[in-house]
Amino acid sequence: MVLPELRIAPSILAADFTRLGEQIAEAETAGADQIHIDVMDGRFVPNITMGPLVVRAARRATRLPLDVHLMIIEPEQHIPAFIEAGADIITVHVEACPHLHHVIQQIREAGASPSVALNPHTPAVMIKEILPFVDMVLAMTVNPGFGGQAFIAEMLPKLRAIRDMMDAAGRPIHLQVDGGIDSTTTPQVVAHGANVLVAGTAIFDAPEGIQAAISALRRAGQR
Ligand code: DX5
Ligand code: ZN
Repeated sequence: MVLPELRIAPSILAADFTRLGEQIAEAETAGADQIHIDVMDGRFVPNITMGPLVVRAARRATRLPLDVHLMIIEPEQHIPAFIEAGADIITVHVEACPHLHHVIQQIREAGASPSVALNPHTPAVMIKEILPFVDMVLAMTVNPGFGGQAFIAEMLPKLRAIRDMMDAAGRPIHLQVDGGIDSTTTPQVVAHGANVLVAGTAIFDAPEGIQAAISALRRAGQR
């Protein structure tokens, strides 16, 4: 079984945007592995958040990989702008891409690491044929659109199904989870094969602070 290393990906959706650079730097010092940036267009999801401008600002604040989660329709129209702004990993939703293989190739050819996301209701098998072409799969554990929602525990068997498909692929592929990830849900998702933990509220809204919150997540994810 191929188990890639545990990675913590703080989601800046929950950060204090008046102090974004400082908060990203604090997450980096605390041992974050990549910075997760949630892009929403008010079409694919009901909310509107940030675009390439914020990715460019984050690029100046850290050396960590920037993990850009595109919750937008027609992502192919905007991928070059996000990569030019400094995105290292680009995740597109399978539900937003009728020509998914083409979009994944576009990301790879432009020099970024391609990844594909599944909404909660989308079956695991939807990524089977794209698996040879991606470096990461993002299994949503809430409906995308907002931070601070409750983890959907029924997603756990789906994580295991995706990890089993990854094992059959015979090369290390990351399995990212996003939504409601905290010190309580982390041991469950890790036990079901997830290795990249996105957390917004649990890190940036933690009363104990960013540093302690990241350490707590890492402890909770020990395998
Ligand atoms: C939700 C976003 C998440 C969000 C997670 O649509 O994709 O990345 O920031 O927030 P928490 O960790 O608060 O559930
Ligand atoms: Zn996200």
